[in-house]
Amino acid sequence: MRLNTKRFISGILIVSFFIYSIVIYTVGTRVDKGEKFVTDQAKKGKLLFQKKTCIACHQIYGLGGFMGPDLTNEISAVGKGPLFAKAFLMAGSERMPNYHFTETEIEELLAFLTYADKTGVSPVKKFEINYDGTVNWKGKDEKRD
Ligand code: HEC
Repeated sequence: MRLNTKRFISGILIVSFFIYSIVIYTVGTRVDKGEKFVTDQAKKGKLLFQKKTCIACHQIYGLGGFMGPDLTNEISAVGKGPLFAKAFLMAGSERMPNYHFTETEIEELLAFLTYADKTGVSPVKKFEINYDGTVNWKGKDEKRD
């Protein structure tokens, strides 16, 4: 092989290395941490959630009281979602107080629950390591309740 051909091939390899590195390092840093869900509405919802001490009976990200269900993934849970949650916020239940929230307050609480849903998973996922070093999420085929 001629010297020029060798130089040409190594040139292509070096350039490819840099392009590949740039792609890997920039794509990997674009992690969605739910920033776009931190709206003013969601912030007000969080304040309401704190003021009305919902955490006394409910958990967010697995922390809180255990009288009511964990609300982290309420919005995306199969068979639940914003309308389901809204019904409880509008009327309470036998065991949950009716707070007589206004429509605006309900929308704020739902915005906060949407933020929680996009930024956390509860209960925590269980992982197992395969013989070849790859990682499996154990519950990935199970439906959440
Ligand atoms: C005194 C305890 C208590 C408090 C305080 C409370 N809840 Fe509840 N909540 C419950 C219980 C218990 C349920 C389950 C439904 C039932 O058994 O009646 C529930 C159900 C819910 C649900 C439906 C969840 C599901 O998946 O079934 C939502 C959404 C909810 N609560 C939101 C809230 C919010 C938001 C607050 C604060 C403003 C709040 N709750 C305060 C006890 C409470």
